[in-house]
Amino acid sequence: MTSNIKVTLVLLVTFLIAPLVLASGPDIHALWDDRCVSCHGHAGEFARKFLTVSNAELQGRHHVHDLRLFLQNHYLAGHSVEPVYNMLRAQAGNDPRFTNECSRCHNRAADFVRDSFILRDGVLYSRQLDMPIREFLNGHRKLQQQDVDYFMQQLMRIANEVDLNNTNSK
Ligand code: HEC
Ligand code: HEC
Repeated sequence: MTSNIKVTLVLLVTFLIAPLVLASGPDIHALWDDRCVSCHGHAGEFARKFLTVSNAELQGRHHVHDLRLFLQNHYLAGHSVEPVYNMLRAQAGNDPRFTNECSRCHNRAADFVRDSFILRDGVLYSRQLDMPIREFLNGHRKLQQQDVDYFMQQLMRIANEVDLNNTNSK
């Protein structure tokens, strides 16, 4: 009887802790699609339309200062505030180049990155081609060196905002 309770407790604790240990960080794009998209639409469009960056600070139209504080009381748990803030800040200060130049064939950047890329020792690889993305881009769509640099920076940021490890076993 007591050993049964012990086993039950051990299983229960393992069950409760396991998801925390396995998760490699919140997937900010999935979180947005889960909790914010219904009111605000896609994150990039929302950020570019309504938010600005001034002195590295993200500012809203209605909520100009202290957006971190606002977000904390606005559908977000504490540990998600910083990554969501950083994502919106990056998007607000960016031209929609992926949307304009790549989405026609690759749809949304976050889904593309999550489904097609892996990170190996900090280097972004194509899951399918087993080749560094930078190398691939050098021969793709007649991209110039500065374009490759630009898209690598964007894709790398997004790779850190989504949960690539979740699909590593695919
Ligand atoms: C039920 C609808 C709803 C949901 C869900 C929602 N928001 Fe909002 N959000 C609003 C409204 C309405 C405003 C404007 C409110 C105001 O002015 O006080 C707003 C304002 C904002 C602003 C400030 C915009 C500005 O111009 O000042 C940010 C940033 C923001 N939301 C982020 C988020 C994030 C991140 C999520 C998901 C975690 C989210 N929102 C979920 C309705 C929503
Ligand atoms: C006209 C369609 C088209 C456009 C526009 C396009 N691509 Fe591609 N892309 C492809 C195809 C097709 C592939 C599959 C590999 C191949 O055949 O070259 C691909 C593959 C890729 C891959 C490798 C994917 C993987 O699974 O390994 C990356 C990375 C990539 N594209 C990035 C971009 C970026 C960044 C842009 C925007 C500058 C872009 N592509 C614009 C058609 C396009």
